[in-house]
Amino acid sequence: MSKQTVPMATPMLMPTYNRFPLTLVKGKGSWVWDETGGKYLDFTAGIATCNLGHAPDQVKAKLELQLDQLWHCSNLYHIPPQEELAEMLVKNSFGDQVFFCNSGAEANEAAIKLARRYAQVVKGTNACEIVTFSQSFHGRTLATLAATGQEKIQQGFAPLAEGFRYLPYNDKDALELLVTDKTCAVLLELVQGEGGVIPADYDWVQQLAAICKQNGILLMIDEIQTGIGRTGTLFAYEQYGLEPDVISLAKGLGSGIPIGAIIANQKAAQAFSPGSHGSTFGGNPFSTTAGLATITHIIEQGIVKQAAELGAYLEEKLHGLKQQFPEIKEIRGKGLLQGIVVEGNAMDYVTKARERQQLLLLVAGPDVIRVLPPLTTSEAEIDQFIAAMEKVFAS
Ligand SMILES: Cc1ncc(COP(=O)(O)O)c(C=O)c1O
Repeated sequence: MSKQTVPMATPMLMPTYNRFPLTLVKGKGSWVWDETGGKYLDFTAGIATCNLGHAPDQVKAKLELQLDQLWHCSNLYHIPPQEELAEMLVKNSFGDQVFFCNSGAEANEAAIKLARRYAQVVKGTNACEIVTFSQSFHGRTLATLAATGQEKIQQGFAPLAEGFRYLPYNDKDALELLVTDKTCAVLLELVQGEGGVIPADYDWVQQLAAICKQNGILLMIDEIQTGIGRTGTLFAYEQYGLEPDVISLAKGLGSGIPIGAIIANQKAAQAFSPGSHGSTFGGNPFSTTAGLATITHIIEQGIVKQAAELGAYLEEKLHGLKQQFPEIKEIRGKGLLQGIVVEGNAMDYVTKARERQQLLLLVAGPDVIRVLPPLTTSEAEIDQFIAAMEKVFAS
């Protein structure tokens, strides 16, 4: 057991996060270390971001080379890793063109802007409204918090950006309300991550996608948490047999180096032209080198198939855990994005796991423990996680 310290954040930092009393200074693979040398099994992966584990060698090697070349030059010049990453993303998705930015919220901002411009400039209508869903999470900027279907995220930020309408998630009857003459797009998570690890029902999604198609409404999938192999396919939309118009990415795309992106089909992508959107850092040589190395490694090494197999193993083991402990009400999720729905406060279990088992986990809402190992975890590490959880639930 490590000697646990209780670090306090400096008062010079705005208190936007309730931090765990832990200072992490090193990470490798599925493991992180605190400043006293204490070692923790990290089944958070930096909130679904370190999909190749911490400091993956293949990405590190490419970043080291790039550090000796060029760090930044702006989008006024051609940037080889940016172009290669765009080609790689297009080749491995439904899409035709990519826009790069720096975070998930910025990716959704880009998607929102693209949808409105598509309706207004390409189609020549005055449609501006985007439909999102209850419990969704799309980011913290003014537009993306307005897109987010959770009041607690919006509180205190009035006036909210206009042009968003929320429908209940997984509710077929409510789909009747999807289309108005103002609707230009739908923005949807196929597994709601922050909202409680809630997978979308297959039939509901089919019906929703059909309505979008019939009415010329863009189908935009927020793959910021579900993308890059997390749910057992490179993108979650593949499991729903969808042809989206736009997807948004961030988190796992850069292995922890900040990057965001949207991929769009030609129909939607034509709405952007020089000057219509941009970002100083978006697609910069360093972040796109991280993205390119990440995606190349994932594709070349068959990491997605491995993640699907490990996801099935994790799910089976979690169902075994549920059999043993009645306080576990449900196991839900896809691939390596799993939720343990508990009776009582999920944070209590997460605290016990950290303090007594040196196991890092997250919550998703008050009663869901969120389990997000790196895609490169192993059955042995999943067994270690399950053994630790048995002790947490038994205590
Ligand atoms: C589904 C989804 N969309 C958007 C975001 C926002 O991403 P970021 O924090 O990089 O802005 C998140 C972050 O958790 C997310 O899970």
